[in-house]
Amino acid sequence: MATEGIELEEEERHRATLVRVGELAPGGEPCVELCPPPCAIVLFGASGDLAARKLMPSFYNLRKSGLLPENFFVIGASRQKLDDESYRNAMEAAIRSNAQYDEKAWSDFRKRLFYRTLVPDARPYEDIKEALADREKEFKTGGNRIFYLATPPAAYPGIIEALGAAGLSEEKQGWSRIVIEKPYGRDSASAHQLNEVVLRNFREDQVYRIDHYLGKDTVQNIVMFRFANAIFEPIWNRRYIDHVQITVAETMGIEKRAAYYEQAGVLRDMFQNHMLQVLALVAMEPPSVYEANLVRDERVKILRALRPLPLESLSESLVIGQYVEGEAGSEWAPGYREEVGVSKDSTVPTYAAMKLFIDNWRWQDVPFYLRSGKRMAAKFSQVYIQFKRVPHLMFKGTLDAAGIMPNALVLKIQPDEKVQMLFHVKNPGSRVSLREVVMDFSYTEGYRGVKLDAYDRVLLDCMIGDKTLFIRRDGVRYSWEFLTPALDLLEKGGPGRKRPELFIYRAGSPGPTEADKFIQKDGRRWQND
Ligand code: BG6
Repeated sequence: MATEGIELEEEERHRATLVRVGELAPGGEPCVELCPPPCAIVLFGASGDLAARKLMPSFYNLRKSGLLPENFFVIGASRQKLDDESYRNAMEAAIRSNAQYDEKAWSDFRKRLFYRTLVPDARPYEDIKEALADREKEFKTGGNRIFYLATPPAAYPGIIEALGAAGLSEEKQGWSRIVIEKPYGRDSASAHQLNEVVLRNFREDQVYRIDHYLGKDTVQNIVMFRFANAIFEPIWNRRYIDHVQITVAETMGIEKRAAYYEQAGVLRDMFQNHMLQVLALVAMEPPSVYEANLVRDERVKILRALRPLPLESLSESLVIGQYVEGEAGSEWAPGYREEVGVSKDSTVPTYAAMKLFIDNWRWQDVPFYLRSGKRMAAKFSQVYIQFKRVPHLMFKGTLDAAGIMPNALVLKIQPDEKVQMLFHVKNPGSRVSLREVVMDFSYTEGYRGVKLDAYDRVLLDCMIGDKTLFIRRDGVRYSWEFLTPALDLLEKGGPGRKRPELFIYRAGSPGPTEADKFIQKDGRRWQND
């Protein structure tokens, strides 16, 4: 648990302190975190869903765990007419339902919460500036500021320009940072335009583009696991790996986000960001030092090396689907087109399976299958790495070669947090008989202490100034450059090019049966939870 802070000499730049947050097994290795320097947060979209479900509970959890300094406050801002008191009440309700409420922790947290209504015809940014200056004196945050955009994306350019015009991106005393939530644009052109607006007002090193998947411990573990063990890297390539499957399957539908989802669909919602980032971690080269820009260089190199999807025969690389009503868990779930706010003839995909290749020496011709969907049979996210079969089966005649599955490594991201290795052993007793066994490591085994969820991690890193887990401008560019041609074909068609068909699947099922055929025709099958 959190103990007293120890000043860190080499972290002078951040003036961060080290805090002990847990340990491995009783009396084992202590686990430490950096507690950020004093800072102020201005949260735009403060009355929205993201603020209530994720952001406020994360700030509260971090403070409760001793991971936020005494000198810290939040100004919530949105168009909704509220005052400090009513905002605090709303956030108390949010924390009661989305975090572990604790009377003492809440009373410490609530006095750090303030609210400003953004009245369009007044001078809202001057008002924010004054409120910041007043509170900064009270909380002694030294002019360190984070502006967090949790509004609908259409509001981003206006807010960013207004922050710039009000001089709020300037760093007079402390630092000034801007955090931008996804979606970051909706195609190559709009992402480019957004980058222009951002970089007219902020420097790239002030910009934190969030992909909360990178904040998941088990996602960061992909890199740690690969590069802290000598035994995996030598076989982590086209000579030994047959193919890779990356799956993010969700059981929930689109919740109350029809307006957003109708514009996005699964390719923009999950592939452009989370799926491609996980892919980059699985496929990247080791940087010489685990340092933000070097790690990001390696991730970007993978995005640049993605082989363009073949538009003349897109359905050989992409299957899309949309859920219809069905039994999901113990409940009957409506179809996508029946969801409130969704058009009755919507062709927005809620499921996609994609086969892609990385054109470099390590991965030439190794297929990566990416799959994600809403309202699927089970919630699970994992990276499944299947190795090649043994080059020669000496048990021929005694054993059925086809029955012997190749070895596999499974990096389970959620809800199970595990690493599994699948291999074969002899059955006891019988002469030549094999069975497949699973070696299983549970990620949090032996750890006692504070656990950070994805948002806790990225918020903390932004306050500390560590950009390893954030997306750089070129990362946004190359992921959109890969996806935009396929999105254009799906949405607008193209002369002489056939659009992939939209297949239906029942809510609560593993996805469209065409997706099974899609991988089976390559002689492979989906690995489910
Ligand atoms: C978000 C998507 O970025 O990620 C959602 O917009 C999706 O549609 C969510 O449900 C999944 O995140 P997690 O952390 O619940 O797997």
